[in-house]
Amino acid sequence: MTRDALTQQLEELAHGASQSLAAASTLAALEAARVKYLGSKSEATRILKELPSLPAQERAAVGKLANDFKRRIEEALSVRRAALVEAPAGPAIDITLPGSAIPHGRLHPVTRMMDAIVSLFVPLGFEVVEGPEVEWEYYNFDALNIPPDHPSRESFDTFFLELPSAEPKRGRLVLRSHTSPVQIRVMERRKPPLRIVVPGKVFRPDPLDPSHSFMFHQVEGLMVDNRTSFADLKGILDQVLKALFGPQTKTRFRPHFFPFTEPSAEVDIACTACQGQGCSTCQRKGWLEIMGCGMVHPNVFKAVGYDPAKVQGFAFGMGVERIAMLTHGIKDIRLFYENDLRFLEQC
Ligand code: PHE
Repeated sequence: MTRDALTQQLEELAHGASQSLAAASTLAALEAARVKYLGSKSEATRILKELPSLPAQERAAVGKLANDFKRRIEEALSVRRAALVEAPAGPAIDITLPGSAIPHGRLHPVTRMMDAIVSLFVPLGFEVVEGPEVEWEYYNFDALNIPPDHPSRESFDTFFLELPSAEPKRGRLVLRSHTSPVQIRVMERRKPPLRIVVPGKVFRPDPLDPSHSFMFHQVEGLMVDNRTSFADLKGILDQVLKALFGPQTKTRFRPHFFPFTEPSAEVDIACTACQGQGCSTCQRKGWLEIMGCGMVHPNVFKAVGYDPAKVQGFAFGMGVERIAMLTHGIKDIRLFYENDLRFLEQC
């Protein structure tokens, strides 16, 4: 055998050995590979035995090659052995098993409805604004033309906080009973024209029943410039309600009273359950009350330093849970707050 031929044989052996070692999935298979490549009857041993037949000047080089080969295989063997001892039962992962599903979180149905409502106004130029849930009486009532003794104040039953108010001029601290105080906060800071929508939580001490909760959500809207009219209000709300409840939806603006708007209206849609025929959902009225609205009262403009002779605008406020209940056919508002996944996963 020549030196080149032996070198080539060793390379081939090394290649075969590393494949068999990698394929050995048990300690027994690994031992068989060891015997095959390093045992007394192995090729490597045979090659070492042939060394004396080589010319003296080549013996050292081939001998070194053969020893390198043995060392490489021995090293690879001990690495593989360690791996097999750690995982004696074979591969740790069965890649043929189907994966296990990771449960996905999702937004709460009230949050999704609030986002959906707000995103109908954004393309119309309305900006999304938020305000504090703990509010001063001044913002929740006085600046909205609801003076302390005004009977309408009683309709906004309110949670009062027993904390000292940092600004007694603005009255006591309350949990806001509607999102309308944010109208005042924004107008105090900015000049018209402005268009805002205000999503958020509101609080009223109502006993829990299928349609009342001490906490619920509203989306407020306000648009002010020098020519915004009731026609704009009707057009925009009609379009938004058709987007929410379907293009066939009929709307009706029914005169109403709010201290902070004049004239004021409540907006109804033809009952989604009976299309206006009259049924138990609409208490035989054929209509469902959806929100309050109106033209901003001059006293509200005065409270924020706007000149009521120069500006006009509209405001509206709607209950998010109510709209979500109607669009999803949910009969009890309490379901939204119980964190029961059997309910939440259906919405
Ligand atoms: N704030 C009123 C309520 O909570 C709704 C409303 C907002 C009415 C704006 C008119 C204008 O009932």
